[in-house]
Amino acid sequence: MRIKTVANNVYSVGVVDWNVRHFHGYTYSTLRGSSYNSYLVMDKKIALVDTVYGPFAQELIGRIKEIVEPSKIEYVVANHVETDHSGALPEIMKLCPNAVVIGTAKCKEGLAKYYPNNWKFQIVKTGDTVSLGSKTLSFIEAPMIHWPDSMFTYIPEDELLLSNDAFGQHLAATERFDDEVDNCVLMDEAAKYYANILIPFNSQISKKIAEIVATGVKIKTIAPAHGMVWRKNPEQIINAYVNWSKGLPLKNDVLVCYETMWNATEAMAKAIVDGITQAGLEARLYNVAVSDRTEILKDTLNCKGIILGSSTHDNNILPAMASLVDFIKGLKIKNRFGAAFGAYGWSGESIKQLDSVLRECAIDVLAQPLSVKWRPSDEEIKTCVEFGRSFAESLKVK
Ligand code: FEO
Repeated sequence: MRIKTVANNVYSVGVVDWNVRHFHGYTYSTLRGSSYNSYLVMDKKIALVDTVYGPFAQELIGRIKEIVEPSKIEYVVANHVETDHSGALPEIMKLCPNAVVIGTAKCKEGLAKYYPNNWKFQIVKTGDTVSLGSKTLSFIEAPMIHWPDSMFTYIPEDELLLSNDAFGQHLAATERFDDEVDNCVLMDEAAKYYANILIPFNSQISKKIAEIVATGVKIKTIAPAHGMVWRKNPEQIINAYVNWSKGLPLKNDVLVCYETMWNATEAMAKAIVDGITQAGLEARLYNVAVSDRTEILKDTLNCKGIILGSSTHDNNILPAMASLVDFIKGLKIKNRFGAAFGAYGWSGESIKQLDSVLRECAIDVLAQPLSVKWRPSDEEIKTCVEFGRSFAESLKVK
């Protein structure tokens, strides 16, 4: 694939992973694949910023060789320890054993554990710089965006921010820039990335953006470690991060998620959605057993209401819903309003459990849980519609 120039003498030499469909184990679905972006900075001294996932090391090396012999690399910046960016580091360091690896103190600690080594290492903090000749590498620590070791590298002469995971998207493509791909797809993947990985770090992200803005640095291009480089409109992704990191829903929509055994809970869910729309709000309805959890979690960015339903099975919530609930808990999604519902045969524990889980998650519960025995009668369907309508009316004034 053709190597593209990100800025004057800065080349995108990373790789596209067309076939990856799961990330972070099986916690994140990457239905559009991904890329591991690595940037080669050519100057009097040569630096490589981030590497790629280990299985792609030779592909990275081949692309570097199209520009320069890897032995000439003097600095390898490790913005982040996670193996999708550091996996190829040992292979790179074999080719330039005298190069200095640059990263945060936590990065050094992490790399030593992943890849026991005797590499020269320079620990950097925010404000530290390394001159390459005509270009400067300036470092900005970014702890918990999204690991303790995370860091950004900024090249002031190019007004180029190499942001690693931040501002990234899991999107495989031969294109490399924001203006070369469909903007809806791009923003959809960026939102999915934020919702599934970064929500727990909202406050760190919000503070870091404010800190960078306060320094007055100019950012013409943002080159993340996954997906497209933001060269046409970096403000679009910065503004999106500013909005998402507030932790507030962007719309009044209601997310209705359910899992059902014999369609009784499903009938309730559909009636609840009818009620929500009768009240003038929009809803997103998912049977979680057959839906992509990564997509569902993305929708939490827009939805102010979260209504969860499950049949009861062995005194418990059904398994796909239990998994979704774990993610909602783990992501610490705040500033939302919820309710629980479900059909049951004899005891109905799942509905009480869902109600408790919503409360544990600090989701403000707006209604008593709604349960139906066996299957909803016509009258009970009307009750479900009213449940949805009443929930939406309450939500409107929150
Ligand atoms: Fe793309 Fe945190 O690794």
